Amino acid sequence: MLQKKLIVSVISLLMLISLMPRAAEASGEERFGGAGRYETANIISKAGWKTGAKEVVLARGDDFADALSSTPFAAKINGPILLTTGDSLKGSTAQELKRLNASKVWIVGGTNAISDKVASQLRNMNLKVERLAGKDRIRTSVAIANKLGSSHGTAIVVNRDQFPDAIAIAPYAAQKKIPIILSDRNELNSYNSNFLKKVNKTYLIGGDAVLSNSLLKKVRNGERVAGGNRHVTSVRIAEKFFSGSSRPFIATGEKFADGLTGSVLAAKRNQPILLVKQNSVDNTVKRFIKNNNVKNYTVLGGNQAVDSSIGLKLHAPQFDRNSEWLMLVNKKKHLSSSYVPKNLTIPNVRFPFSGYDQKKNLRSVPAKALENMFAAAKRDGSTLYAQSGYRSYQRQKTLFDYYKRQYGEAAANRFSARPGQSEHQTGLAMDVTSASVGYDLVESFGETKEGKWVKNNAWKYGFIVRYPKGAESITGYQYEPWHLRYIGVEHAKYITENHLTLEEYLE
Ligand code: DAL
Ligand code: ZN
Repeated sequence: MLQKKLIVSVISLLMLISLMPRAAEASGEERFGGAGRYETANIISKAGWKTGAKEVVLARGDDFADALSSTPFAAKINGPILLTTGDSLKGSTAQELKRLNASKVWIVGGTNAISDKVASQLRNMNLKVERLAGKDRIRTSVAIANKLGSSHGTAIVVNRDQFPDAIAIAPYAAQKKIPIILSDRNELNSYNSNFLKKVNKTYLIGGDAVLSNSLLKKVRNGERVAGGNRHVTSVRIAEKFFSGSSRPFIATGEKFADGLTGSVLAAKRNQPILLVKQNSVDNTVKRFIKNNNVKNYTVLGGNQAVDSSIGLKLHAPQFDRNSEWLMLVNKKKHLSSSYVPKNLTIPNVRFPFSGYDQKKNLRSVPAKALENMFAAAKRDGSTLYAQSGYRSYQRQKTLFDYYKRQYGEAAANRFSARPGQSEHQTGLAMDVTSASVGYDLVESFGETKEGKWVKNNAWKYGFIVRYPKGAESITGYQYEPWHLRYIGVEHAKYITENHLTLEEYLE
């Protein structure tokens, strides 16, 4: 056994060195992402204004204060939003202005935001320059609103200090040329209230934490569009204003720039912007993707903004972190010594031993799934045996201490969990084996007819091979083709198809 384990260790190490890519690129992805926000803005401009644009909006790339309300104006002049630092225009941005063959640049913000030096640089390029500016960000938003046209039936209000809601509503505002007015959470001031008196419908974007319920009462015919967080708010906006969207834009909700510059293009294409984290997607966003049967989507920003695995994550099943089937137990997440799972029961399957009833148990739902799986394997000519299911904390302690004495602690911990760290204590794991390997739990089980059947079919019954080959650095354990963990069919299917581990899936 020790020999075998050592050989297994060496093999596992070699496998680790050649770790396979663990996530595939999604096929329907279009991405506009450069080395940073300034480049991304140029790339979006090239994609959206292929033959050029007479007028362009220029906003600061490192501060969103003034820029939040500029999208509808950019849509009105049918120009892209490019970015600059406060005191100098980047060469690549100047180049993009040339490519566009632009004749006029609208600078968003006063000289405090974007200096006159930038304005001179532009004039030296033979560009007309005009500012969209007020004394502060609220007044800038009103100034831009006034430039949009004299009469507005509708206005949109966003919090003056938060960008995510403004980015999410920008495509709709741009499409309909609805002004985006900034406000404090609780109070209007004379500038924004004067403007808002003129409209007959007002959308407040975001929850009470950003625009209060008392503010909602102060505006004319106010309606709130909001979710519990920025990601959900972006979905609520998409559902309300872009129902049936099948090619949404995806942007980070952590930084404003890519969403800002992408929002004019999203408006042109009649698509919403859904907000995500770099590496994870809110369930509500996944639901929108599923309900709208989204296959293709456009990502704004590079991999540092939105990771290359986002396609997989957008299409992943929704999950409830508190679901009893998705419990994560590993070297970092422990169970208490008193944890005993509910509804333990002995499945009606073959065991290669008699007696030892405790380890025959599983929770009732996985027990039923195991029965179905064993029956299906049998029909396909593979006879499976259940070797080890539920283990109490105490039982795991006895086992681990035994291996520790045999092999030393570190070696033992590569295949045996410390008490409190074993999935067997959850009642959701069963080790399975076959006569062809003498009912043993060995790596060669993976090469048998039965082991291959398990690898290909276990997901149909809600099980995954929990410790796959080459994933020891992620799972903490060497390859165990015999250790099956119940998580439910939908999740098991996704994890199996995408060669993920439970750690990657849940974290
Ligand atoms: N063999 C697995 C890691 C356990 O002991 O739970
Ligand atoms: Zn096991």
